[in-house]
Amino acid sequence: MNPKQYIENHKERFLSELLEWLKIPSVSTESSHTADMKRAAEYLCKQLTSLGLERVSVLPTKGHPVVFAQKIINPSLPTVLIYGHYDVQPTDSSDGRTWTSPPFEPVVRDGKIYARGATDDKGQVYIHVKAIETLLNTTGLTCNVKFLIEGEEEIGSPHLGEFVEQHRNLLQCDVILISDTSILDNDIPSMTVSLRGLSYVEVEVSSANKDLHSGVYGGAVANPINVLCQMIASLHDANRRITIPGFYDNVIQLSEEERKLRQVPFDVEEYKKMLGIPDVWGEKGYTVPELTSIRPTLDVNGIWGGFTGEGSKTVLPSKAFAKISMRLVPNQTCDEITALFTKYFLQIAPPSVRVKVTSRHGGDPYMTNTNSMFFKAAEKAYERTFGKKPLYEGSGGSIPIIPMLKKHLGVDAVLMGFGLDSDDAHSPDEHFGLFNYYIGIQTVVAFYEELPNFF
Ligand code: BES
Ligand code: MN
Ligand code: MN
Repeated sequence: MNPKQYIENHKERFLSELLEWLKIPSVSTESSHTADMKRAAEYLCKQLTSLGLERVSVLPTKGHPVVFAQKIINPSLPTVLIYGHYDVQPTDSSDGRTWTSPPFEPVVRDGKIYARGATDDKGQVYIHVKAIETLLNTTGLTCNVKFLIEGEEEIGSPHLGEFVEQHRNLLQCDVILISDTSILDNDIPSMTVSLRGLSYVEVEVSSANKDLHSGVYGGAVANPINVLCQMIASLHDANRRITIPGFYDNVIQLSEEERKLRQVPFDVEEYKKMLGIPDVWGEKGYTVPELTSIRPTLDVNGIWGGFTGEGSKTVLPSKAFAKISMRLVPNQTCDEITALFTKYFLQIAPPSVRVKVTSRHGGDPYMTNTNSMFFKAAEKAYERTFGKKPLYEGSGGSIPIIPMLKKHLGVDAVLMGFGLDSDDAHSPDEHFGLFNYYIGIQTVVAFYEELPNFF
């Protein structure tokens, strides 16, 4: 049987297996879900075992476990390491929006799977499980494959570095294949050629040793919230550039030619309408797709302090806090930018307050090697299944583990994403199109079929 026929014949089961997996609330950041994390890993393990893969195991880390499996058909052939994550984001939101159907009771509505993790990343991981099943039951594998599916991506992969170091031999490979990004549209296939890095910090500004009466003390004692707001506001200038000295020093400037190569169709009016914003915002001189991919950012993710209860309370708070993320672009590094931020933030603090900066987590940006045989095979695969050549797209998100794996294993990554930016990843009503799920399986199969042509 040919792979296409096999996928068609097993469509329903391919879907129901994914829906079962999506029912398990594998929220990595909430300790109440620790047992669910294990269950989600074990479910995947069971599926991989039933395919006849080797060394299928749930391997412990200092945090949530990693799922590993492999099939070595011939040691002299290249080995593809499939990386993905089975952990998902929490389901709450700060904007009051709620889920149309419960996040862990997956349903198919209007041709889309609705569930937390549908597109990020269980659905996209399962594409690979089913693509490998399809090949094993039809034309066979064309190279060796390994699975490395982790449970801590959404919290910054705090234990994966150590895990990779300890299992270097087990993870030996020639390329890392990842489906955890998006295509531009279902009729505009694209391949992600760069990802941004991340530096995530928490800041604390404090003044008096306790909350004070704002009438009795206000005016003479610094208000940490006022000061924090001023400090944060000063981190951008009138041209919306970040003011931290040295921040842009290592930012690569793409040539006009490179900018053209990454030009993607974009309608700013449609974008504004989709997001409900009166206008776009950002550094002068760049298009929106550029602002969200090849330019760095600094954003407050949350800010708190003082009195926010019902009614009013006249208080001069003693502390104010903020969580700040900076998206980084090649060749900035997380360590460098975290240090620059910390130094500058302490420096701009007025003498009337104390400031503390804590680095939470982060990762370096990544640029794909578009000349590798693996990238070329993937490109060809998209062309075959979508009927047109994929565009190159810089992505704004971060997958910190990619540059880390490059460091530890010395190999590049190919990003074969199948989601859409409009899938509402991290938001209520996250979904993944059935079209995307099935074409993903076909495209990954096509990748393995094409690979020998590029050896
Ligand atoms: N799958 C995303 C990364 C992503 C999103 C890539 C959109 C391309 C387009 C991943 O699960 C994610 O959410 N990463 C985090 C970083 C992590 C350190 C918390 C992110 O980008 O915020
Ligand atoms: Mn993801
Ligand atoms: Mn995510």
